[in-house]
Amino acid sequence: MTYNDLVKKTVLTQPVYEPGKPIDLVAREIGFDPEEIIKLASNENPLGASPKAIEAIKKEASSVNQYPENSCYFLRQKLATRLELTEDQIIVGHGSNEIISLLTNAFVEPGVNTVMGKSAFISYKLFTLLAGGTPIEVPLKNFCHDLDAMLAAINSDTRIVYLPCPNNPTGTANSADEINQFIEKLPDHVVLCFDEAYAEYQDSPPDLRSWIAKGKKIICLRTFSKIYGLAGLRIGYGYCQSELTSILNRVRPPFNVNGVAQKAALAALSDDDWVKQSKSENDQGLIQLTDGLTELNLAIVPSKGNFLLVQFEKSDSICQQLLNKGFIVRPLKGYSLPDHLRITIGTKEQNRKLLVVLKEILQN
Ligand SMILES: Cc1ncc(COP(=O)(O)O)c(C=O)c1O
Repeated sequence: MTYNDLVKKTVLTQPVYEPGKPIDLVAREIGFDPEEIIKLASNENPLGASPKAIEAIKKEASSVNQYPENSCYFLRQKLATRLELTEDQIIVGHGSNEIISLLTNAFVEPGVNTVMGKSAFISYKLFTLLAGGTPIEVPLKNFCHDLDAMLAAINSDTRIVYLPCPNNPTGTANSADEINQFIEKLPDHVVLCFDEAYAEYQDSPPDLRSWIAKGKKIICLRTFSKIYGLAGLRIGYGYCQSELTSILNRVRPPFNVNGVAQKAALAALSDDDWVKQSKSENDQGLIQLTDGLTELNLAIVPSKGNFLLVQFEKSDSICQQLLNKGFIVRPLKGYSLPDHLRITIGTKEQNRKLLVVLKEILQN
């Protein structure tokens, strides 16, 4: 008997998540120094983390022999104050990915389905499949979530609807009005997972706290991986009604968030200037890349995040040629967007270099 004979069926058919290629690996493959590689593949903050967070990480290093605080109490307290919620309305995860996983595991089983956009963030589909549920993928309209079609796709077996705002990899975001109308019509047996991973890049992101206060079944997800520059530490959070956090805490593994990440996140939250600077640089970088790519006659989807969806005639070849020159961008076959690449907004200099190299590649 083999492991394959014994393992759960859902595991055998489970697609494997494909992350952006890591710098060290690419450097080795193409014989470059890692310093020469420009990674624009994973929507990370090109400025890095706040110096205050880095200081906190160094300080916490001497305590790594101890288990972390299990409930992330102090971080939840700080977040609760900022969000004007109570601590028991907040759950912290090993990245917001873990909270998507906890939520999906708690509500999805065979016979149950979840509704999501066809080219939405891939974790919704992966975790649904792993839990034995059926993902119902609703085609996007002009690269944006089609909320009427999503409502129409919901049936009595639906438990979760995932709505990223903005979406990764398209960068599109539904308006607050559209979202409010959608929530009004959501049936009571469905939980809305409203994914705000890139909310800090928006000037005024939709705010669903009043819906949560009214008892609508909604969990909002945020992360420290993007504008806060802490992707490597894996930390994100969700806010919702306390009834839902107590359910999620039953499926949450013990000590899921390490102490270094907790302290770094606390410090990052106290550095509003870093967030402001990161947003401002991203705003400028978005314009720089949008203008530069448009000049190269490339079709781009206007983005509300820290990345751009760009259409290429031969995306595979362009991706490989960029890689050979030391630029890592993201191919999107797994997102049903085989003619597109996703490019993270880099620093001004990184964007400039990318545009120069892309021009050379396109001219050949
Ligand atoms: C829309 C969206 N949600 C959630 C995540 C997960 O982020 P993390 O697990 O790093 O918090 C990402 C990461 O790329 C994302 O793009």
